Amino acid sequence: MSSDILNNLNPGIGDLHPYEPGRSIDEVVSEFGHNEVVKLASNENPLGASPKALSVLEQLENNLHLYPDGNGTTLKEAISNHEHVPVENIILGNGSNEILELAARAFLNPSTSSIASKHAFAVYKIVTQSAGASLIEVPTCNWGHDLQSFNEHLEKSTRVIFIANPNNPTGTYNSHEEVHSLLKKIPSSVLVVLDCAYFEYVTKADYVKPLDLLHEFDNLLITKSFSKIHGLASIRVGYGIAHPSLIEVLNRIRQPFNVNAVAQSMASIAINDHEHIRKSIELNTQQYEFLFNQLSELGLECIPSVGNFITFKGDFVGKEIFTNLMKKGVIVRAVDLYDMKDFIRVTIGTEAENLKFLRALEELL
Ligand SMILES: Cc1ncc(COP(=O)(O)O)c(C=O)c1O
Repeated sequence: MSSDILNNLNPGIGDLHPYEPGRSIDEVVSEFGHNEVVKLASNENPLGASPKALSVLEQLENNLHLYPDGNGTTLKEAISNHEHVPVENIILGNGSNEILELAARAFLNPSTSSIASKHAFAVYKIVTQSAGASLIEVPTCNWGHDLQSFNEHLEKSTRVIFIANPNNPTGTYNSHEEVHSLLKKIPSSVLVVLDCAYFEYVTKADYVKPLDLLHEFDNLLITKSFSKIHGLASIRVGYGIAHPSLIEVLNRIRQPFNVNAVAQSMASIAINDHEHIRKSIELNTQQYEFLFNQLSELGLECIPSVGNFITFKGDFVGKEIFTNLMKKGVIVRAVDLYDMKDFIRVTIGTEAENLKFLRALEELL
């Protein structure tokens, strides 16, 4: 290809690395020919989708020729009831990633910057540099976001701060007090995106109460996902909560019909499937304990996590362990792109999945 066209790339895109998703079961089956593959690579819910949400699929068949509700009325009402906020405070996204991207497109351009922690979720860099802006990375403290020092890294050009709470891939979290004191310190003209994709899994008493912050700060955008606790990663739906005028701005640049009808229907039901949510938290809490202890007994150094995954370090090259586990029918995630070359991230699965992973890992150590 002639390089002329590539010379005209928008600034920042040249040195971006495409987001690396977890390997799919189909890919691994066709490459390694296993009958049974366990995927613990993308922090999905091992219990699957809410059974109640699955039951609506049949009813959708007759309406697939129609565009979805572009306003997402029913789903926004369900979120509004669940979160106790008016629908005007809510925006729907094709995954919560889309909300992150909308925030970047609305506020970032080549003369601006955003701030995120080092080892923070990879999409912050992608959306920042795609908008031509530069990302300022703040060093971590015990692998967690050092929110106290974010303020010192603020530049005149800074328009957006991304906080993953909990963070992926480290599983660390920030307390309510830490987020509150950051919001108090920074100018109200800087947007703070509080990414709560794993919100429901966190059982810590001092964890952030996002809506309390929203009552106090207009420059806050909270994002949540249906891909994790609700087990709906494949249908792509997430949402943002913010002041209505901020939501209105983001709606101006949102694609019409960004959330499809299947996603809207399933998510409206999943958010109220309290039994499925409860079971998912219970399994995660119990299996976290088990996996953390087993990995520690194998001499591996686990970063304490409040999410549905554990990132651990060993005397190995993460990418090699990742490939060798795949050969044994277990898909995990190497995190070298997060500058964590000797780490592996594993999603907390069912007991059977975790045992299969542990057995395979033990054979490799
Ligand atoms: C911290 C964090 N934020 C956001 C997302 C995006 O989730 P989704 O776009 O599936 O809602 C993920 C997905 O892994 C994540 O780990």
